Amino acid sequence: MSPSPSQFFITLLIILFHFHHSCSFSLSVENPDQNIILSPKYTFTAGFYPTGENAYSFAIWFTQKHKHLDSNNISATVVWMANRDQPVNGKRSTLSILKTGNLVLTDAAQSNVWSTDTASSKPLQLRLHDTGNLVLQELNTSTKCSNNNILWQSFDSPTDTLLPDQTLTRFTSLVSSRSKTSHSSGFYKLFFDNDNILRLLYEGPRVSSVFWPDPWATSNGAAGSGSRSTYNSSRIASLDSFGRFSSSDNFIFNSSDYGTLLQRRLTLDHDGNVRIYSRKDEEQRWFVSGQFKQRPCFIHGICGPNSTCTNDPINARKCSCLPGYVWINDQDSSQGCRPNFTLSCSNMTHHDELRFLPLPHVDFYGYDYGFYENKTYKECEDLCSHLCDCAGFQYTFFFTAERGGYYLCFPKIQLLNGHRSQNFQSLFYLKLPKSSDFVDGIKNQQNGKGMVCSRNRVVKLERGYIEEKENGSLKFMLWFAGSLGGVELLGFFLVCFFLFRGSKDFGEDNNGYVSATAGFRKFSYSELKRATEDFSQEIGRGAGGSVYKGVLSDNRVAAIKRLHEANQGESEREFLAEVSIIGRLNHMNLIEMWGYCAEGKHRLLVYEYMEKGSLADNLSSNELDWDKRYGIAMGTAKGLAYLHEECLEWILHCDIKPQNILVDSDYQPKVADFGLSKLLNRDDLGNSKFSRIRGTRGYMAPEWVFNLQITSKVDVYSYGVVVLEMITGKSPITGIQIKEELCHERLVTWVREKKRKGIEVGCWVEQIVDPTMESNYDVKKMETLANVALDCVVDDKDVRPTMSQVVERLLSLDS
Ligand SMILES: *[C@@H]1O[C@H](CO)[C@@H](O)[C@H](O)[C@H]1NC(C)=O
Ligand SMILES: *[C@@H]1O[C@H](CO)[C@@H](O)[C@H](O)[C@H]1NC(C)=O
Ligand SMILES: *[C@@H]1O[C@H](CO)[C@@H](O)[C@H](O)[C@H]1NC(C)=O
Ligand SMILES: *[C@@H]1O[C@H](CO)[C@@H](O)[C@H](O)[C@H]1NC(C)=O
Ligand SMILES: *[C@@H]1O[C@H](CO)[C@@H](O)[C@H](O)[C@H]1NC(C)=O
Ligand SMILES: *[C@@H]1O[C@H](CO)[C@@H](O)[C@H](O)[C@H]1NC(C)=O
Ligand SMILES: *[C@@H]1O[C@H](CO)[C@@H](O)[C@H](O)[C@H]1NC(C)=O
Ligand SMILES: *[C@@H]1O[C@H](CO)[C@@H](O)[C@H](O)[C@H]1NC(C)=O
Repeated sequence: MSPSPSQFFITLLIILFHFHHSCSFSLSVENPDQNIILSPKYTFTAGFYPTGENAYSFAIWFTQKHKHLDSNNISATVVWMANRDQPVNGKRSTLSILKTGNLVLTDAAQSNVWSTDTASSKPLQLRLHDTGNLVLQELNTSTKCSNNNILWQSFDSPTDTLLPDQTLTRFTSLVSSRSKTSHSSGFYKLFFDNDNILRLLYEGPRVSSVFWPDPWATSNGAAGSGSRSTYNSSRIASLDSFGRFSSSDNFIFNSSDYGTLLQRRLTLDHDGNVRIYSRKDEEQRWFVSGQFKQRPCFIHGICGPNSTCTNDPINARKCSCLPGYVWINDQDSSQGCRPNFTLSCSNMTHHDELRFLPLPHVDFYGYDYGFYENKTYKECEDLCSHLCDCAGFQYTFFFTAERGGYYLCFPKIQLLNGHRSQNFQSLFYLKLPKSSDFVDGIKNQQNGKGMVCSRNRVVKLERGYIEEKENGSLKFMLWFAGSLGGVELLGFFLVCFFLFRGSKDFGEDNNGYVSATAGFRKFSYSELKRATEDFSQEIGRGAGGSVYKGVLSDNRVAAIKRLHEANQGESEREFLAEVSIIGRLNHMNLIEMWGYCAEGKHRLLVYEYMEKGSLADNLSSNELDWDKRYGIAMGTAKGLAYLHEECLEWILHCDIKPQNILVDSDYQPKVADFGLSKLLNRDDLGNSKFSRIRGTRGYMAPEWVFNLQITSKVDVYSYGVVVLEMITGKSPITGIQIKEELCHERLVTWVREKKRKGIEVGCWVEQIVDPTMESNYDVKKMETLANVALDCVVDDKDVRPTMSQVVERLLSLDS
């Protein structure tokens, strides 16, 4: 509409006319453009708002100049609705103030759809303020409209929006809309709970759960609850016009444009997120200047049962059915998926009828049948097999300082709030009938076929707000720990803090998404045969097999490792379980695995291809100056520290050598070939499984030779030798001719000897450094690096530093 002042004046006159002559007032649904109430500065309009075909709700919205309301063009920003769940007919419906003092909305059929339930014998006035508050008040005839007694106001019964100066109280809550186009009540609620905390609740058709603040954070009191306080029982929250939202539980949220006077609103959107919107004036689009949940997939109910949510850089999130499951309603992902197979309970005991499909990076929140410690994978699988309701299980390795490593088994009776992210370092095993072949489902999940749940298209997220202000990893860890029921929260927290600190990819959903799309997958043998042109270009040969260069169908260049038959005693499932553990390792200094092939007796692994080759190649061709060598020493240490210590202590490499350290185009190292020598449970260390000597002559720790217990210190030793080789340019195998000794001692003894003698004259480093580097290096750093390397090759494994101590010592050089 075009609300000219004269039109407004007429509207007001009509209202006043009614007041004075019949002490009653009414607005009709017919001619919705005319039957409106405007606020003094026209900021807001109240009237009948079209919500569907011949369906209207009495509402308040931001006035749109030059725009008519039209049921085919519903675009106004509605901030309040009287009857969102019960729209009235487009004919003969009215809003009236009765002589009794009640404000009522009646439908064409004269039924009372909504009312304020007020009573007064005085003349009444209905006023829309410029704050957006619609107020029913008694008219004080002795004064000029001030100090009037307020009978009712719309600010006291918000729908999904809170305006500046409006207060959310213990008696009120925000309830989201059902969808982008439907204004009726949806599934999300922002409210003050009985413990005085402001929360977001998902109240779905079948289940309900609180997801903000993270439930485990407050239930456990201290840990992670941040600044929330349960002690202030005033239970009020509001958004000020500068853009700060503050709540009596100490939650304070500044919008990104905090401080500027703008039109603002806070809305609980239909997707369960609370967003603060702002704009200069009605000519502009709304701009999101803040949102409570930074990760849309962590909002409960977002994807429905039996599906998983992934972050999508364009549409914020994407829902995908689990392998073997199909959409219940392919227009509405929130309804979730149903199994496209039958597993009757009588078949449960028949183990042969079942299979468990590992899904990397997948977790489901809650609905655990229980959690079980110290179960082997087999026991966990059996438990789920025999439990009729079990739909799958999570089998996760934990490490805490006090307890060391152990496994936890979580059979799930419902698969809700599924979420998939590279950040999530765990496998979920989905229960499926044996007959099905859903392995490609992993690929489908990762490559699309998902349902995109689009976000309101008019809003544009400001870049700075997509990124989290808080440490996303920590938040994620808390979320995860919560799904375990708070077990070992502290220990897990501490340990995994390191896990996340170590990797540049963590904490950024977009990266996670990209790698998930590029994703880990199963390849067919024929596909890899084609990619490598029948294994024609061999680029390396190492533990367990030969490596070929290949070009995948999507044109990515890959290094494809074909494992020898000797490694193939295991079943495809065991192989897959192992490979997916390796596949989930995600660190910039570890080579990335893209997938695998297990077909008949063929076992292949597909890795990213490194154009620059290995450290060995680069050393022999004199490509590496001091900075590059130092960077490689550092990066390799970080990669190994991640393998050993950051939650994954049971993975030893056992064959560190320059051939297994690849370099990328920036000369950043990537450790390759890890995990193949059987993933070690810590308990297995030193037992018969490891009696066979592994590794490569020259780089092997004495433990192998003397048949002592094997620990992560064997890798530390080999790392030390590699660093000495980089410093000296001499190979531990061929470089130095000294009298007969254990071959791995040659280079090491030579350097030790140089140091012992050199210290007396005050310069030993210069005597060992690779002459091709001339004097282009930092002597101080070089000396530290050499000392670290020498500490790594000490015979007594307990004296050697751990890989993370190595990283720390090297890092301290840079500061
Ligand atoms: C809605 O109405 C406005 C103004 O009347 C017009 O500019 C706009 O294109 C319309 N939008 C749709 C989707 O019809
Ligand atoms: C009307 O206003 C006067 C002066 O402000 C006040 O004394 C009086 O109580 C008011 N009457 C009602 C009914 O609120
Ligand atoms: C409780 O919260 C309100 C609103 O934030 C604040 O004004 C009040 O001072 C708080 N009370 C206490 C005891 O902290
Ligand atoms: C919000 O901004 C105010 C004023 O700039 C500042 O004092 C406060 O610490 C900020 N709060 C948060 C949570 O960033
Ligand atoms: C989800 O899958 C389980 C079986 O795993 C099934 O019992 C349940 O009915 C499914 N949920 C819905 C909403 O179909
Ligand atoms: C469901 O399963 C049947 C038979 O197993 C298959 O033909 C059909 O394509 C599946 N449906 C979907 C949507 O995957
Ligand atoms: C389940 O077991 C029944 C008999 O116990 C058998 O008839 C049926 O084929 C089995 N279902 C599947 C999916 O194997
Ligand atoms: C699991 O094993 C650890 C150490 O082996 C032990 O301390 C713990 O009590 C065991 N837990 C259960 C539930 O058996």
